[in-house]
Amino acid sequence: MKKSDNIFIAGHKGLVGSSVLKLLKDKGYKNLIVVDRKKLDLRDTKKVLKYFKNKKIDYMIMAAAKAGGIIANSSNQKDFFLNNIEIQNSLLQMALKKKIKRTIYLGTSCIYPKFSKTPIKEESLLTGSLEKTNQCYAIAKIAGIKFCETLYEDYDLDIICLMPTNVYGENDTFDAIDGHVIPAIIKKIENAKKKGNKFVKLLGTGKPLREFIHSDDLASAILLSLKIKKKILEKKFNNKLPILNVGTQDHISIKKLSSLIAKYINFRGKIIFDKNSPDGTFKKNLDSSKIIRFGWSPKINFYEGLRQVVQSRMN
Ligand SMILES: NC(=O)c1ccc[n+]([C@@H]2O[C@H](COP(=O)([O-])OP(=O)(O)OC[C@H]3O[C@@H](n4cnc5c(N)ncnc54)[C@H](OP(=O)(O)O)[C@@H]3O)[C@@H](O)[C@H]2O)c1
Repeated sequence: MKKSDNIFIAGHKGLVGSSVLKLLKDKGYKNLIVVDRKKLDLRDTKKVLKYFKNKKIDYMIMAAAKAGGIIANSSNQKDFFLNNIEIQNSLLQMALKKKIKRTIYLGTSCIYPKFSKTPIKEESLLTGSLEKTNQCYAIAKIAGIKFCETLYEDYDLDIICLMPTNVYGENDTFDAIDGHVIPAIIKKIENAKKKGNKFVKLLGTGKPLREFIHSDDLASAILLSLKIKKKILEKKFNNKLPILNVGTQDHISIKKLSSLIAKYINFRGKIIFDKNSPDGTFKKNLDSSKIIRFGWSPKINFYEGLRQVVQSRMN
């Protein structure tokens, strides 16, 4: 991979895409291709093919998606399904048409069965039923993996599928409803503090355990994946589509996470858990030993990363 290669980052304004864009710029990659959603809706395959017809793309990172937390997902399964299916169909068809040298497809830990043995290995895919609250999102992502599989194995298109654990970072969607667990809790506690409330109500029992990766650490896993030699991948994966989990090998309860966020925000009120709302899967930390064996490791300490994210909103 050369610094002059043309690299398309789909979803460059999002949590993951913005970290990838920053990392590639910092590392001196000169020809980074980005396009605003207002200019090109990636769900529209015809427009995507037309837009890129005469543009050279060597590598593509698929960080455009409809992503969100448990409430957004469970109350809007249709949109999560359609948006993700349509975006990935457009981008993967474009990759095939333009013979892109390598595509990085981003899945999620939600693709694994609800009762997978933890830490979850890549081999758990499609071995059991899914968590209901986000099953349409998960099924869309699994459809994408299967599409990647046929493109890789039958059409010789080079793709790596990464399955990140829960991602957090500064460029997240800090929304109490639409956000993932960390930004949603931050937003709720910030609001409670602003209003001078004596308590804040959070979803679920607080008991589930979650693994979190900073978006900058995920960006470094993406860059490493772009660089792994094809021959090595073919040997390690026996000429099958490479699927790699990306996590930190660590986890924390939602209760402890909430207390930490309250401490960093300096909210002294009580945290109450609404036990009638859904918890999602109890534990879904990943076994990331495969990508670790390729030489990747997360660098950002969770406590420090979380503190910085909270602090960045106070500045
Ligand atoms: N966040 C997590 O916890 C997490 C965990 C595991 C896996 N992932 C995966 O990582 C990837 C990136 O997630 P993220 O958290 O970075 O999501 P995000 O912050 O919501 O960003 C998504 C990006 O996609 C763009 N986008 C959405 N629909 C589009 C469309 N129709 N046309 C063009 N652009 C569109 C958005 O554009 P705008 O900015 O203009 O809206 C945004 O830039 C996704 O595949 C997700 O499934 C995320």
